[in-house]
Amino acid sequence: KLEAVIFDLDGVITDTAEYHYVAWKQLGESIGIPFDRDFNETLKGISRGESLERILRLGGKENDYTEEEKAELARQKNEHYVSLLVNLTPADTYPGIVSLLTDLNAQGIPAVIASASKNAPQILRSLEIDNLFRYVVHPDSVKRGKPAPDLFLRGAEEVGANPEHCVGIEDATAGVEAIKAAGMKAVGIGEAEALKAAGADIVLPNTSGLNVDLLNSLL
Ligand code: G6P
Ligand code: MG
Repeated sequence: KLEAVIFDLDGVITDTAEYHYVAWKQLGESIGIPFDRDFNETLKGISRGESLERILRLGGKENDYTEEEKAELARQKNEHYVSLLVNLTPADTYPGIVSLLTDLNAQGIPAVIASASKNAPQILRSLEIDNLFRYVVHPDSVKRGKPAPDLFLRGAEEVGANPEHCVGIEDATAGVEAIKAAGMKAVGIGEAEALKAAGADIVLPNTSGLNVDLLNSLL
């Protein structure tokens, strides 16, 4: 029996994965490190600081900045990203998400957010779905980010669920790896090939096909 559903946020609940891409791309270009969508896939699910490190490494500039300068670059990226969030309204919640959350709540099955983003609470409030989640894991409360299982395990623990009876939902390969490392069933949202290779038990092209029966059938 399904004990909890643990959701990634960006790219699963709404299209903020695209905003992260836009903001990192501009930051990269401003320091002479352009990159494409394929490289961006490797940033999904990865914390702000680690994402910057990966971009600097891509450009061979990992030793060119002091810690203060790197903090300033990360701040600039976040400022741009947050400026894009002002446009978010409840209509931006991906198809099928509100009905899935409503059904989970009706059945007493906790819904949890396990995102690496420090902006998660604000996004959930803008979408007006914060009250549909039992718990939001704070990224600073765990030691390791995705692909380590820490965020998902903390989410299960906080709502008293056995990881083996949980389903995680992710759009990032690092996130699917984290779910599987946590011993949970994984739903991938997006391109089947990469998400299957990362270990997804099922991959859907988008969120519109999500429902409680489908998640239960994975256990
Ligand atoms: C999620 C996104 C990443 C983002 C990370 C940190 O994992 O998939 O693209 O870098 O959160 O987000 P933040 O809003 O704290 O910069
Ligand atoms: Mg994501």
